[in-house]
Amino acid sequence: MGRCYRIATIPGDGIGKEVVPEGIRVLDRAGALFGFSFEWDQLPWSCEYYSVHGEMMPADGLDAIRNHDAIFLGAVGFPGVPDHISLWGLLLPIRRRFEQYVNLRPIRLMPGMNTPLANVAPGSIDFVIVRENTEGEYSDQGSILAEGTAQETVVQHSVFTRRGVDRLLDYGFRLAEKRDGKLCWATKSNGIFVAMPYWDARAELIAGRFPGVETSRYHIDILAAHFVRDPGRFDVVVASNLMGDILSDLGAACTGTIGVAPSANLNPAGEYPSMFEPVHGSAPDIFGRNIANPIGQIWSGAMMLEQLGEAEAARAVMDAIECVMIEGPRTPDMGGRESTQAVGKAIAEAMAGPA
Ligand code: NAI
Ligand code: MG
Repeated sequence: MGRCYRIATIPGDGIGKEVVPEGIRVLDRAGALFGFSFEWDQLPWSCEYYSVHGEMMPADGLDAIRNHDAIFLGAVGFPGVPDHISLWGLLLPIRRRFEQYVNLRPIRLMPGMNTPLANVAPGSIDFVIVRENTEGEYSDQGSILAEGTAQETVVQHSVFTRRGVDRLLDYGFRLAEKRDGKLCWATKSNGIFVAMPYWDARAELIAGRFPGVETSRYHIDILAAHFVRDPGRFDVVVASNLMGDILSDLGAACTGTIGVAPSANLNPAGEYPSMFEPVHGSAPDIFGRNIANPIGQIWSGAMMLEQLGEAEAARAVMDAIECVMIEGPRTPDMGGRESTQAVGKAIAEAMAGPA
């Protein structure tokens, strides 16, 4: 018996149900080539589930998957169910209960991708956004005073904890050490003048423990401009929840279609399962036509392999993705006419085993 990984599999809604099977196809093939296997526990948690049961997942849902090796998710959200229900009823509870405090988003210009930027070659953009994933600006703390009157007053708090800020920065610095040794953090200490100077002070303190890492900091506004004007300068970019959310979509937009962008929600110490999902949503506008690009899901699967310690297999999946991006087949969002399944099969077939 080789290694077997138990994966909580949540296809979710819309094209999540079309791209997750392609991710499974490719990862099963990777396992066959590299000597491990998967047990894919399929969970129906979704908006469809909500319309029957009145909740996105059972009350004991998180307990049922807490000992799995990882979570492989497609997308959740569908017309008819308000987006805050799918988010606060499934995605956020998973991210928070399982302390997936790192949201990792690779930003890489792959061959065969169209970029809206001028004068950039494949390979010239290759960095990672490390976004805080459990606190910060996305808090449920706030209130409305004097509602409905002319004095109506709305307050929403941001929450930054020392533990939350430090552990994120620590992860970013360790990652920079393993990559090109450069870390940049986003701030806005001139405008958000309590929380962001705190963030900066913690970053400087932690930087002292990583003398080999070259650091820089930018206000979020000029940082966004640099993403467009000079994206080649970045290696690891660390940002708060809201800032990282915006930078992630901007970075993905600079390097091609949303259909290929992957993400990981990591609990780095491994006390809880981490979750791997494409950046895109359930795309109701194209659901049912089998034209969704499966690459974002498959690339997220490669990140899962990495986290499971199967680095060689992860590289083989990435090489196969690159090969198919260059040679096709392609889905319509990449200018082709092939189906979700044709692209998934081509990537599975392009994969090579151990050298
Ligand atoms: P979306 O990402 O689903 O779609 C945006 C546009 O990109 C659409 O035109 C869609 O056709 C296209 N697109 C997305 N993925 C694609 C793929 N793999 N291949 C080809 N084209 C693709 O975002 P939208 O429309 O804002 O949201 C739809 C639903 O998804 C909402 O209910 C939203 O809440 C949910 N959502 C869920 C996320 C998650 O599960 N993490 C993330 C983003 C949105
Ligand atoms: Mg986003």
